[in-house]
Amino acid sequence: RSADGALRVQLEAVVGRVRIAGREATAYGYSGGVPGPTLRLRPGDRLQIRLVNRLDAPTNLHVHGLHVSPEGNGDNVFVTVAPGESFDYDYRLPEDHPTGVFWYHPHHHGTVADQLFGGLYGAIVVEDAEELPVARERVLVVSDISLDAAGRLRQPSAMERMMGREGELVLVNGQARPAFAARPGERERWRVVNACTSRYVRLRLDGQQLDLLGIDGGRFAEPRRVEEVVLAAGNRADLLVTTAAGTSRLRALRVDRGGMGGMMGGSVSGDVVPLATLDVAGAETGAPPPLPQQPRPRDLRGAEVTERRRLTFAMGMGMGGGMGGGRGPGGMTFTVDGREFDPDRVDQSVALGAVEEWTITNTSPMDHPMHLHVWPMQIVAERGRPVDDIRWQDVVNVPSGGEVAVRVAFDDFGGRTVYHCHILDHEDNGMMGVVEAG
Ligand code: C2O
Ligand code: CU
Ligand code: CU
Repeated sequence: RSADGALRVQLEAVVGRVRIAGREATAYGYSGGVPGPTLRLRPGDRLQIRLVNRLDAPTNLHVHGLHVSPEGNGDNVFVTVAPGESFDYDYRLPEDHPTGVFWYHPHHHGTVADQLFGGLYGAIVVEDAEELPVARERVLVVSDISLDAAGRLRQPSAMERMMGREGELVLVNGQARPAFAARPGERERWRVVNACTSRYVRLRLDGQQLDLLGIDGGRFAEPRRVEEVVLAAGNRADLLVTTAAGTSRLRALRVDRGGMGGMMGGSVSGDVVPLATLDVAGAETGAPPPLPQQPRPRDLRGAEVTERRRLTFAMGMGMGGGMGGGRGPGGMTFTVDGREFDPDRVDQSVALGAVEEWTITNTSPMDHPMHLHVWPMQIVAERGRPVDDIRWQDVVNVPSGGEVAVRVAFDDFGGRTVYHCHILDHEDNGMMGVVEAG
């Protein structure tokens, strides 16, 4: 931290020898590590990041989920940092910024999936004004990667890019199956980031008590007792674990995110993947103190909606109408409202101060996790049925053949940014649009 209280960090995007899963790999990393350093902030903070590009390709940096102004150099998507150059980002979090776990990653269109898959990501924690009574906190960055026998990044096939690549190795904090230890009766706070390029994870920690505080930057009115948590690519979980004696495995269970009607061999995000172990042993601690009352989340369900829009996420066979006619991998096109991403086109013009309802439809045979930058979304209906609780997220899964309605309050920050599918192979192939508020 500098004298004026700003958090100043330098992130160096490097390609070279990086330690992954206990061995040397040729991959990417921020400042030599996978994941990059965890940045800890508080609402109201100023964050200054110098990004140094030591890759052999252009890159940039995006602070995923932070509610910060997209003006000037704030957004990321439209910035190009050439190899050998550096760029200074300067963010100011508002005083009422949501607390929780966020993350950072590159967002240079066309190579986002490659760079993230190769190891460029890290967590951002925005701390609560008053810390919750927990014995300890853990940040778990879940990611996946494929390395060949020599430890080099394995390039995905066209089919993998169409489906959204999933790595053969699933890592927690860059490690294969790390072991954590605790004593019985302790409460821990786990901040879990799904930093996989495409993979969805259904997390289980059998034998331990799980209470979900919220997803992404959205905190529930009350913590929820859960057996498992499903995170689409880009989602995060803010989780309390109350420990019981024994050894538990943190596992990612199979998630069916749709396939191509069996044509492609069915769905991906396969099997049961062991992620980590938690060893709970030793003397029982006293019961953890009661949790303070959670702040009441904002609820837009009663708000006056100033504008309604429909957005359609689709995969097409391309211009010729047959397989192979599109420009994308496998001859497919990836579109929002029938168009591929164009940085020079504004797809949604929003009035500052508006509360909008966006109904997002997915006509394709796969799920698409829809992500909107800057402004969080409140899920108000799924498949046409109203939801009966308050759920704020910045990545919302839109199931194959289904639809989700979200409300967004554009009450501050004018400027231009994007929404897109967070299966980053789809984003790189055009499934992204531009929104401008002003
Ligand atoms: Cu996590 Cu537009 O990105
Ligand atoms: Cu983002
Ligand atoms: Cu997608």
